[in-house]
Amino acid sequence: MKNSKLKHILFRLAEVIPFTKQFKAKRWVDSHYMNFAWKNMEYIFLSIARFAHINRPIDGYYMEFGSHEGRTMSLAWKHFQHLFNWEYLAFDSFEGLPEIQDIDKQEIWKKGKLKTGVKSFLKIVKKSGMPLSRIKTIKGFYDQSLTNELAKSLLPKKAAVIYIDCDLYESTVPVLKFIIPFLQKGTIIVFDDWNCFHGDPDHGERRAWREFLNNNSYLKFEPFVSTNEANSFICIQNKINT
Ligand SMILES: C[S@@+](CC[C@H](N)C(=O)[O-])C[C@H]1O[C@@H](n2cnc3c(N)ncnc32)[C@H](O)[C@@H]1O
Repeated sequence: MKNSKLKHILFRLAEVIPFTKQFKAKRWVDSHYMNFAWKNMEYIFLSIARFAHINRPIDGYYMEFGSHEGRTMSLAWKHFQHLFNWEYLAFDSFEGLPEIQDIDKQEIWKKGKLKTGVKSFLKIVKKSGMPLSRIKTIKGFYDQSLTNELAKSLLPKKAAVIYIDCDLYESTVPVLKFIIPFLQKGTIIVFDDWNCFHGDPDHGERRAWREFLNNNSYLKFEPFVSTNEANSFICIQNKINT
């Protein structure tokens, strides 16, 4: 047996032996750390539910860019199904991350990482109680899949919520271009990875958003809620001179 494999087994073993350092760490991760991360995510979804309910009628799509293991899609269903009749769209390569370009290079990103196939993804969301008739998957890498034809086939329905969770600058740029015709007053845009790249505004979703705002100055947004990880905005103007 390889040394690294043996080390891994011993580490896992220590995690179940009471009062070891590893046992205490695991207990903290499970009960505090992950709980905190999950609560923060729920805070975003519940804030959106409250906003969209108070500002009725906000109707349309829940569009998600980056669906992977269905955690956010399941949360969306859990918190939106009761008050809104939204249609759910999952845009993903379903093959994991694309080739990583220079601007996005970081140790954690690798081509093909974060892969969940369509079948497995649908199995997860079905398990969360979502009827498959309420969700559509749009498979493909965004620079290829987010075409004008696709937009035409989904319009004129607009977006109630746009959830962007695709990590990279190069992935976020085509997403932001694609969503323009789906914006309406009250559309909420969430950036799940706002603080990736150590919060550097010249990288990741922050950079893509700044460039998008500069290139489309007629679109107006106001800040909505944020957490230690995510940030979100409300669209308040989606047309020139309105
Ligand atoms: C962090 S994961 C999303 C996690 C997901 N929201 C969840 O709750 O499980 C990032 C996802 O973005 C997708 N992705 C990233 N860049 C992409 C691109 N250029 N085209 C298509 N999918 C992309 C990956 O395939 C991956 O599923």
